[in-house]
Amino acid sequence: MKASKVDEKNFIWSLTLCHVLISLFAISLASCESFNYGQALSQSLIYFEAQRSGHLPYNQRVNWRHHSGLADGLDEEVDLVGGYYDAGDNVKFGLPMAFTITLLSWAAIEYGEQIAGAGEYGHAMEAIKWGTDYFIKAHTKPNVLWAEVGDGETDHYCWQRPEDMTTPRRAYKVDENNPGSDVAGETAAALAAASILFRKIDPHYSRLLLHHAQQLFEFGDKFKGKYDESIRVAKGYYTSVSGYKDELLWAAIWLYKATQKDEYLNYVLKNAYDFGGTTWAMTEFSWDVKYSGVQAIASMLLMEEKHKKHEVILKQYRSKAEHYFCACLNLNNETKANVDRSPGGLLYVRQWNNMQYVANAAFLLTVYSDHLLAANQTLHCQKGEVAPGELFAFAKSQVDYILGSNPMGMSYLVGYGPKFPQRVHHRGASIDSYKRNMGFIGCTQGYDNWYESPKPNPNILIGALVGGPDNNDKFSDERRNFEQLEACTYNTAALVGVFARLNNLE
Ligand SMILES: *[C@@H]1O[C@H](CO)[C@@H](O)[C@H](O)[C@H]1NC(C)=O
Ligand SMILES: *[C@@H]1O[C@H](CO)[C@@H](O)[C@H](O)[C@H]1NC(C)=O
Repeated sequence: MKASKVDEKNFIWSLTLCHVLISLFAISLASCESFNYGQALSQSLIYFEAQRSGHLPYNQRVNWRHHSGLADGLDEEVDLVGGYYDAGDNVKFGLPMAFTITLLSWAAIEYGEQIAGAGEYGHAMEAIKWGTDYFIKAHTKPNVLWAEVGDGETDHYCWQRPEDMTTPRRAYKVDENNPGSDVAGETAAALAAASILFRKIDPHYSRLLLHHAQQLFEFGDKFKGKYDESIRVAKGYYTSVSGYKDELLWAAIWLYKATQKDEYLNYVLKNAYDFGGTTWAMTEFSWDVKYSGVQAIASMLLMEEKHKKHEVILKQYRSKAEHYFCACLNLNNETKANVDRSPGGLLYVRQWNNMQYVANAAFLLTVYSDHLLAANQTLHCQKGEVAPGELFAFAKSQVDYILGSNPMGMSYLVGYGPKFPQRVHHRGASIDSYKRNMGFIGCTQGYDNWYESPKPNPNILIGALVGGPDNNDKFSDERRNFEQLEACTYNTAALVGVFARLNNLE
């Protein structure tokens, strides 16, 4: 956030000039606004500090937060202190937390240099390690993973700062008798991806992560089942609609990237058809549905000479990856095979937290475009060949929409630019800071005095990406409007790499 004063001035000036030009010459918005992606990157990493659970470190930058959840796991005699709150409540949900860490790790693998160039590599690694440290604690035995602390039902009766929590903090696990291949698979993917990053800077930690990743993958593969059948309190909050087969392929492909061991690649090839990897054509990539991610990585493997011998199956994966990218670009023949767009040009998948799909698409498109470019290849869509630059330009258009190039003229990244959401649906941010007001704020007191207040949040949740506008680009900044005003860790996580890449345009 350094130098933000100057940047803000420039930003406002360029915006004003731009608007004059637009009204005079009807110049398109997107072509003349320029955004400070470096600042957006810095802000996005600050957000993860606001979502921290546990004992906060001395260098915590979000200073309206304080320690919380310090007895998590105590009743179950396991140390589950730490990790992240997923969104605006105080539950720790294992599945989206792991997906968040996979995305952050992938961003740092692809764009580590660009993140470092912006001076943010340390913060990115801290954000990742806050998750991986927790997963190590939560994986107490080869076949036991603690995958939720607290529950949505009782948590949602209360509007309380995490520091004041009085809600039940029961911990829930998956094990041999209560399997959870999706949460085990996603956690394995997160740890495998993170192990790649730590290999150079902390080889011991990297090996530890990999060890846990391998065990979790074996556990998920051997004892198959959906985690929300074992942890039923997750249903309705993070129901695993797509099942666990996508996460098992996802875990295997990340383990292959981390180890280069054929056994993992063979798993991805052998199960390609049965697990839906080469049959599901998707239009979303999300905490629930990883197929497009697997398909994109498989296509990138195909770009390497050494994988040519597997080209029959890898090409089947690629055709499904292409379906996803072409759907985002509106280049599949059938309208219903494409992703809808708002009149303002935003990808629109569904009403509740639509921005997660936008951010995830922007990230996959960016990564894929760079790999196509490096391999001197194009994307094949039913409506024609697409050069890598077009994928990237579209990803940029989505990010620019997020940062302010949209009909509401506001940024959906909190704290960025002159106009952004003021009433994020977030317990901690919407209640007076614990630092300023240490008095206990009760469950319903929070609802009466803070949730219901029409005033802006007292604390700015910098770097949060909210659910965003509806399919007509309309947005109503009200705290109770959780579909548009709640932010999630996996929304912002997907933007980190894209901001870094955009900040380094040649
Ligand atoms: C898509 O439409 C184009 C032009 O109408 C046509 O040439 C092509 O065969 C179609 N492709 C598929 C897979 O339907
Ligand atoms: C890239 O591909 C094009 C067309 O397929 C070809 O003409 C060109 O020589 C290739 N360039 C490199 C550097 O391989």
